[in-house]
Amino acid sequence: MPLKIIALPKVKEQHLTGIFGNFEEVVNARIAELRESKLPSNQQRVKFFQYLLDLVDPTQYAAVQARFLDPDVVDKKSDMLKYLDPIVWFESKLALAVRLGLDKAGPKRILDLGTGPGHFPVVAAYFGHDVTGTDLPNRTTGVVEAGHLYGALCDVFKVSRIAHKITPTDDLKALKGPYDLVTSILTAFNVDAKKRPWTTEAWQDFFGRLRENVLAPNGSLFMSLSDNKLTPAVWARLKRNATWAVDQNKAIYFETLEPQRNPGAKPTTRARSTRRAPGEEQTEPSRAPAESGEQSR
Ligand SMILES: C[S@@+](CC[C@H](N)C(=O)[O-])C[C@H]1O[C@@H](n2cnc3c(N)ncnc32)[C@H](O)[C@@H]1O
Repeated sequence: MPLKIIALPKVKEQHLTGIFGNFEEVVNARIAELRESKLPSNQQRVKFFQYLLDLVDPTQYAAVQARFLDPDVVDKKSDMLKYLDPIVWFESKLALAVRLGLDKAGPKRILDLGTGPGHFPVVAAYFGHDVTGTDLPNRTTGVVEAGHLYGALCDVFKVSRIAHKITPTDDLKALKGPYDLVTSILTAFNVDAKKRPWTTEAWQDFFGRLRENVLAPNGSLFMSLSDNKLTPAVWARLKRNATWAVDQNKAIYFETLEPQRNPGAKPTTRARSTRRAPGEEQTEPSRAPAESGEQSR
């Protein structure tokens, strides 16, 4: 039975078809649209969405929709329901995975911190990688509560997760490293107990723990950070040792964290010469006011 569309003031109208529509119909309609163009990137999207149709049980997806869009439980003040739109989020994560070279790389072990609904792990697994997500313990259970939509979607997408909260002091050993790549996409972990953005020292400390307990010796780190959880001075300092960084969406990539061992060190030649990301300017959707991003198709 088609779902009744409820007004969701915090969610952009472009997501409504994806949120309330039948999963298979929504994905097949997008495939048909993409097939009209011969652009290689669109052909890649077509193949990915075909894979997604095989991966996802549409009955299970419909059950999640029915559960979380139930007018009696729906939280109209939250923008989280936008993640039920399978098109926008998978396409943005596909673009990011390509930008990180995951479509061409050999199999990597990847950890996605704060994976939320799990779109990035699905895309990375599609490209042949072994991916684990992490999220706050109360978001990894997928229980029947509006606040746990992330867990329910990860279950539908078959994303394996570790329940874990990143704190300024945790040793990160529970994350079961080593990983070749760690990603963190709009995961606002970098605040202290009073919700103040981490200092440079807190970041150096975090990088040290990542190096020691999470990353493989040549492991890489990609982060897309939230503007309001970052001071200009800290961003400038982070960029100094980055392989590339994009100011606009605070995306930053470290091919290795090794140079961070010496905080006073000058940036490497590579960091200076490739400060800008390869490919397009922006991979992630531009920010929505609440917690993550929106993107126009
Ligand atoms: C805006 S969502 C982004 C989800 C996903 N990375 C994406 O791009 O779609 C932020 C995620 O970070 C998680 N998160 C926030 N603080 C965290 C922390 N201290 N440790 C681990 N995860 C955290 C939230 O539970 C949520 O899943």
